[in-house]
Amino acid sequence: MTSIETPRSCKVCLVLVGLPARGKSTLALRLRDGLEAEGVKTRIFNNGVLRRVHYGEASSEPWFYDPHNEEGNKARDELSRMNMQAARQYLDEGGNVAILDATNASRARRNMLEERLTGIPVLYIECVNEDKDLVAASIQRKVRLPEFANMSRAEATERFEQRIGYYASIYVPLGREANFVRLDTLNNRILQEQLTFVVPFYVRIRDIMVSDWVNNLYLVRHGESYYNLENRIGGDSPLTEKGLAQAQALADYFRDKPVPYIFTSEKTRSTQFATPLIADHPDSVLMALPELDEIDAGICEGLTYEEIRRRYPEEFAARSRDKFNYVYPEGEGYVTMHERVNRGFRKALFLSGAAPGTLIIGHQAVNRVILSLFLYRRMADVPYIYVPQDKYYHIVATHHKKLFELVRFMGPGA
Ligand code: F6P
Repeated sequence: MTSIETPRSCKVCLVLVGLPARGKSTLALRLRDGLEAEGVKTRIFNNGVLRRVHYGEASSEPWFYDPHNEEGNKARDELSRMNMQAARQYLDEGGNVAILDATNASRARRNMLEERLTGIPVLYIECVNEDKDLVAASIQRKVRLPEFANMSRAEATERFEQRIGYYASIYVPLGREANFVRLDTLNNRILQEQLTFVVPFYVRIRDIMVSDWVNNLYLVRHGESYYNLENRIGGDSPLTEKGLAQAQALADYFRDKPVPYIFTSEKTRSTQFATPLIADHPDSVLMALPELDEIDAGICEGLTYEEIRRRYPEEFAARSRDKFNYVYPEGEGYVTMHERVNRGFRKALFLSGAAPGTLIIGHQAVNRVILSLFLYRRMADVPYIYVPQDKYYHIVATHHKKLFELVRFMGPGA
């Protein structure tokens, strides 16, 4: 990639704002990745990383974040000053973009930063995500951090929630700052944007903020189920012997590849397919998302295509005519499941953050919908996208890298 000539005087400080578990660090990494790829020197200054270095485990205790605790306030302000100082030095020495990754929840904190950054344009970016389920799932990811290693998950969750509560008690959303963007970090959509002076690199920063960032997605379909064997649709049947062997083959194939996040649907065939994989990757996060469940065939659930043709000839004919727009009575169609699958997929992306690999074990129709987000196909063709059970799709779609390949994970004829 050709790098664009960047004058040394072009500098900006991006100050992230947002409660914990709202996607700030992922956004920081996306921005750095995207800007660096274009020759813009970018560095992240993360208060949490500095805190762990200076205060260690004690700083994961909720009291550290209590706004009434003078000692904690002083320590956190000091960390913020140190990071800001380091950011300033970085920019003075030729860096272009410094990203301050911290909650920066109060106006007082933001004023303090601005006073010390005089002469450097500041753009605030607020990461907004109020989806309760997602925040809860995100917390479950956070409590795996080494700083919570000496306590149970339940204890760590309680402490982390208390920490969020303390931040929430002093939190002021952006609104009065000179330059700011409020970003929906689940959908990568700008909710509010105000620029009162020129912010260097803004066009590129904006483009990165609104683009999806898919870092090594492995999209797999579960192996053979008993219903697959009988050509029955829907239901919740388990895997056959062959399906179990396919699950083992997938685990063998991924044994040495990083897959820190594995998402399944809530269907047995999908969760069962993940079992050998998770046995080999015990530290990976495994989550079952109902949004990734297979198309609901309504009155046709559990039938074979032949039985549908005989029992409901009109339905069968209608689906053959327009498979994308057809909706099963009392069930779904591709056209109606699009939104929920998309939402499940976005959840998976949000939760896996900047992970080096994310594996999704989906279903035939579900995977077609996910694939349609990356393939330029007419909607009418989506229900016919090839979704085998012995191969997976490997997808990379970051700001500067695109890859789309179909890879076999087990021998032919298996
Ligand atoms: O046959 C397996 C299956 O996953 C069914 O559960 C589902 O109804 C079907 O595939 C979706 O594929 P199609 O839209 O081609 O019927």
